Amino acid sequence: MTAIPVATATLEVRSVTMRFGGVLAVDDVSFSARTGEVLGVMGPNGAGKTTLFNVISGVQRPTSGDVSLRGVRLTGRSVEDVASCGVTRTFQTPVMFWGLTVRESVEVALAAREFGGTYPPAPLRELAPCGLGSPGRRHAQAALRERADVLLAGAGIAAMADRATESLAFGEERLLELARALAVEPTVLLLDEPLSGLNPDEVDAVIASIRAARTDGVAVLLVEHAVGELLSVADRVVVLDHGRMIAEGLPAQVAADPVVIDAYIGDELE
Ligand SMILES: Nc1ncnc2c1ncn2[C@@H]1O[C@H](COP(=O)(O)OP(=O)(O)OP(=O)(O)O)[C@@H](O)[C@H]1O
Ligand SMILES: [Mg+2]
Repeated sequence: MTAIPVATATLEVRSVTMRFGGVLAVDDVSFSARTGEVLGVMGPNGAGKTTLFNVISGVQRPTSGDVSLRGVRLTGRSVEDVASCGVTRTFQTPVMFWGLTVRESVEVALAAREFGGTYPPAPLRELAPCGLGSPGRRHAQAALRERADVLLAGAGIAAMADRATESLAFGEERLLELARALAVEPTVLLLDEPLSGLNPDEVDAVIASIRAARTDGVAVLLVEHAVGELLSVADRVVVLDHGRMIAEGLPAQVAADPVVIDAYIGDELE
């Protein structure tokens, strides 16, 4: 394997520790993720995966350590600032924009990027009527609609474009959340268990979207308990256990690592 120069690292996580009272949720974790790579993040329940995503996305400030993107320090910035730097995430429980159709949800994310906003867009209610409704913007609106439909098709939910978000099943919400996240063309995409609760067709749609994002040069961080799927789509894997990083390597190396099998994979495959 050829060593990849550090200069191509997109996201750098350096010595991040996150303590909640007596709980050491993330314990001195360091790794980097590169553009056009899927980095799998594995580990048992409570290992610190979501906490790590919270730290990277600016939801929580780490007790110590820092995160940077292309050399720019993210730690200490607001969620909105981190998002506008190019870090986008989906959640373990999908977050929906109620009161919009499926297509409108994606259009709002597209408009947020187009008009210099952030993602997740903060002033949603203001943005939707002024960004999408004014007659002078008909051309922009048609372009947004076209792009939204491409994203919906990519996520396998083109047929749901005109449905109210409230009417979606859980798996459909996940697919919409992913389409919305991709709409902002992130540099780094954090996916927290994007396959959980999905049927096999939906799993295929998400995996195809992840691969497409990688081809587009996105650095994808993928937290997932479906170990087989994670190992098949990831280029590299890091493994957390009780907040500590216990392994890092190629999927095949990590899957064969006795420490990882002991801590996690053994149980997960049973
Ligand atoms: N806000 C918080 N306050 C206190 N403890 C927390 C908080 N958030 C997380 N923790 C604790 O930190 C540890 C790591 O939790 P985290 O949610 O990051 O794990 P996870 O790897 O995402 O687990 P899962 O696979 O179940 O989603 C757990 O012990 C959890 O109880
Ligand atoms: Mg979690």
